[in-house]
Amino acid sequence: MSPDHLHPVQRTGRAVDAVHRPASISDALQLLVDDRRRAVAGGTDVLLDLQRGGPGEPVDLVDLTAISEGGFNEIVDDDDAVLLGGGVTHNQVVASGLVREHALPLAQACLEIGSPQLRNRATIAGNVATASPANDSISALLALNASLVLSSLVDDVVVNRELSVDQFFTGFRATELRNGELITSIRVPKLSSSQRGIWVKLGLRKAQAISVVHAGLVVGLGDDGVVTDARLALGSVAATVVVIPEFADALVGRQLDAASIGVAATAATIAVEPISDVRATAEYRSQSVSTLLRRSLETIARNRQAEMWPTSPPTLSPPQTNEPVPPAQGTTPNSGTSSATLLEFLRETGFDGVKEGCAEGECGACTVRVDGTAVMSCLVPAASVDGAHVATIESLADGGELDVIQQAFLDEFAAQCGFCIPGFVMAASALLDEIPNPDDDQIKMAFSGNLCRCTGYYPIVNAVKTAAERRLG
Ligand code: FES
Ligand code: FES
Repeated sequence: MSPDHLHPVQRTGRAVDAVHRPASISDALQLLVDDRRRAVAGGTDVLLDLQRGGPGEPVDLVDLTAISEGGFNEIVDDDDAVLLGGGVTHNQVVASGLVREHALPLAQACLEIGSPQLRNRATIAGNVATASPANDSISALLALNASLVLSSLVDDVVVNRELSVDQFFTGFRATELRNGELITSIRVPKLSSSQRGIWVKLGLRKAQAISVVHAGLVVGLGDDGVVTDARLALGSVAATVVVIPEFADALVGRQLDAASIGVAATAATIAVEPISDVRATAEYRSQSVSTLLRRSLETIARNRQAEMWPTSPPTLSPPQTNEPVPPAQGTTPNSGTSSATLLEFLRETGFDGVKEGCAEGECGACTVRVDGTAVMSCLVPAASVDGAHVATIESLADGGELDVIQQAFLDEFAAQCGFCIPGFVMAASALLDEIPNPDDDQIKMAFSGNLCRCTGYYPIVNAVKTAAERRLG
């Protein structure tokens, strides 16, 4: 039967034939010369794409997570810009004081993407390369006037070209990225002392939501309060994320006050002509754009944009430190040649405490910890964690004695059918290692990627508080 006759969830995705793990950018580029191979970093888009695309020729993946050279996984202060390596994840940005101080809209966008487990894997470069108009980091990068370094191999030599993010998108999910090319770095100009930036979004729910509208705004103000420059990028309203010049035209040279804010919001709303789709009608989007812009500009006028940043948002990863992370108790997979996901690999090798709910990064039932970091194992190629410490729910009990978090879940009656609980417990263990005494907001943020179909959320939150108290003695 043709896959077209099947419900999408019944389709078998394309098989992965092999996973290559180059240790350097030039080795990765050498592998990508063969255009049947696909680059994968976090895997959160690529694995879904392969699964949803239905059967086809098996593909080889070129896994970029083993590259450690030349700032590929680092955020670097470069005088007037912040440089993000091509392997930098959303949660690295969330944890970066440098980005928050100099490029706040990007930090705000990264905090809204998916869940903590996804943000621990998904890279900014991947978000840009996927080129969906709903990809939240793009409006922030466009507002900040960022540029991309694209690397390729010419006569066995790595050659770079730089392109502004503005020039990169050519249509719906279409970009200037050539076969065999990789985004190896992103250059984000720092906001000047006279500029203020903000990023906002509207989704149909608070967490794990694809944007109905997202917007990055930067406004420069002179000492006299007159707008000197302005830039607005809007996403989820057209085939690509778009910069709206009419916004700047309406603001520059005017005081940032109620009148100019109203004019700019209206000008941008008229200019954009939003799309209708499954998430919202064009009319709803128009109203939303107008309201979001008005509120954002009012926030900028009051200089309160940084106040939207929550206190120490959890990343579910070990605190950033130069000290080596003590290995969590767990298994070290010998998964180097596996073409399975980590979830499949674990369940096939006896670790069936980890559960498959959605298999697309939405439910958190498959949460495990890789070298201490919580991830959605359904979206991790098993080969990419070869040699890493993987902690599953089986890792917690010690000789038959339950771990303090498991005991707290029992004592607080936090489990009903129990299907989601291994994922919650593993997320809770990452949270309490990162933030030993989290407040309610931090617990809710930590669990924003974990769904419970029995909706036992209050006892689960109580269980985390009880476990925290017991761990702190
Ligand atoms: Fe992995 Fe749902 S998030 S199974
Ligand atoms: Fe049943 Fe959460 S306890 S799904």
